[in-house]
Amino acid sequence: MSSFKRILVTSALPYANGPIHLGHLAGCYLPADIYTRYQRHRGQDIIHICGTDENGVPITIRAEKEGVSPQEIVDRYHGNIAESFQKIGISFDNFSRTSLPVHHHMAQDFFLKINEQGYIEPRTVKQLYCDHCELFLADRYVEGTCPNCGTPGAHGDQCDYCSHLLEPTALVEPVCKICGGRPRVRETKHWFFLLDAFQERLQTWLDTKTHWKSNVKEFCKGWLNKGLKPRAITRDLQWGVPVPLEEAKSKVLYVWFDAPIGYISSTIEWAQKRGQPDLWKAYWLDPETRLIHFIGKDNIAFHALIWPATIMAYGEYILPAEIPANEFLNLGGKKLSVSKEWAVWLPDYLENFSPDPLRYCLAANLPENRDADFTWKDFQTRNNADLADVLGNFINRTLTFLRKYFDDRIPKPGSFKGQDEEVVAAIKGAPAAIGDLIETFQIKNASQESINLARLGNKYFNDQEPWRTRKENPRRCATTLYLCAQLLSSLSIILEPFLPFSAEKLRKMLNQEDSLSSLDWNQGGQLRLQPEHHIGSLEILFPKIEDQIIARQIEHLNQDAHPSAES
Ligand code: MF3
Ligand code: ZN
Repeated sequence: MSSFKRILVTSALPYANGPIHLGHLAGCYLPADIYTRYQRHRGQDIIHICGTDENGVPITIRAEKEGVSPQEIVDRYHGNIAESFQKIGISFDNFSRTSLPVHHHMAQDFFLKINEQGYIEPRTVKQLYCDHCELFLADRYVEGTCPNCGTPGAHGDQCDYCSHLLEPTALVEPVCKICGGRPRVRETKHWFFLLDAFQERLQTWLDTKTHWKSNVKEFCKGWLNKGLKPRAITRDLQWGVPVPLEEAKSKVLYVWFDAPIGYISSTIEWAQKRGQPDLWKAYWLDPETRLIHFIGKDNIAFHALIWPATIMAYGEYILPAEIPANEFLNLGGKKLSVSKEWAVWLPDYLENFSPDPLRYCLAANLPENRDADFTWKDFQTRNNADLADVLGNFINRTLTFLRKYFDDRIPKPGSFKGQDEEVVAAIKGAPAAIGDLIETFQIKNASQESINLARLGNKYFNDQEPWRTRKENPRRCATTLYLCAQLLSSLSIILEPFLPFSAEKLRKMLNQEDSLSSLDWNQGGQLRLQPEHHIGSLEILFPKIEDQIIARQIEHLNQDAHPSAES
């Protein structure tokens, strides 16, 4: 396990144009939360920063579709998203908004300073223009067939299918998203960030990141080999951060220019809320701070190339140390699609289930190295088999036994031998083994290793047969129950990053006073319950989920889904 002076974790800022779905959660928010909760337990100086991405075409398109103002859209979904995250237990230190003045100010400052440094240049360019709508069709205002993978419905700036970044004029058969008409090419003026000027510095910097995940490294290699090109960072739009130049009055910054700066403005807001307005600086200026960007794979170009170059051009802030980018989470074997309503929405989930089973199911199945698949059936199995039959069962049988035969008290153990030693070794080794996995972003394996502790507990309980030794060899029985209880105490710490709500309840059941937040991770490796300690009352943590409940979810999913794309 490694220690750092300071860690700054960010999760990609979700667009405030719709609720959160399971793909978002598995892509970055859940792994980032597990990582952060774990590091907090180790007493590391760590903050998890996020907020809603409230500028750009994704917002205005939604507003037009619903016939309301962009402001109404971002207000609604900022609240909706923040509430979902809070209920599912994503414990951000700050959840900001890129519509706040502090962010507009920061983004404009970035533009001006980079402009002063000579890395921004105005150019006259050809863009798609819709005569009917009297609008330049940037980004998501235009759709067409992706020139890279041939999939229809690619946006003007990115293909959702192959994640390739695009120029609108490169789309095959482009159509206006508003009226469906065929746009024409027309000239306009835009400001370009000279990304190509950073080719060598990026290359040298990325060469030091030998341990990064191969999806990130391969992606960057591909771009660098082709040669980086200047990128337009302004748009002809009414909504967003105004370009701070007299001659660009009617233009705003491209949302992907301002959004990552949101990581900084959210940190500033965090410091202000804490009444220590300068505190953010240590996180962004001290090279010993470890900056970690959790993202999904469609955001790699922005975080591993364009944003670092932006930071280099600005010339003050630290560069990311880690970019653990996840692949995609599919749904029932098909690519998740918001436009086709092929998605499971977090607010819907939370109306029907408690948060931890989903956290566990997604953690156990994270798309860390390849795309993963969510199915309701798998969700049911993970809950009923792993959580109810393994973890829940181990908790129940241990606490019930203590209640019935030991008067709710932790018994005094005899000497350890054989399988006892195995259990003690598993408890002692767990914090480092699981910690190392989390630190190297193998969070899926870490979740399995933690549940394996409960699995070991059940095996121990079965093999030791305390219901038999109770009469034949009470000392043995006492030792068995003593160690089962220690395993539970250990699990209540080790499971916290994955199952925070259940871990808290487990601690109550064990009547352990110390609040989880004050507990050190390494205490999960200790035998902390003293003989005679009085346990609390038992509660069923993981009820089984019946077939008919799952059938209803599957039906609901299929009813909503429609095959024709329309975002
Ligand atoms: N809103 C973007 C998306 O959903 C992510 C923005 S991440 C940030 O793909 F770095 F720009 F903040
Ligand atoms: Zn049009």
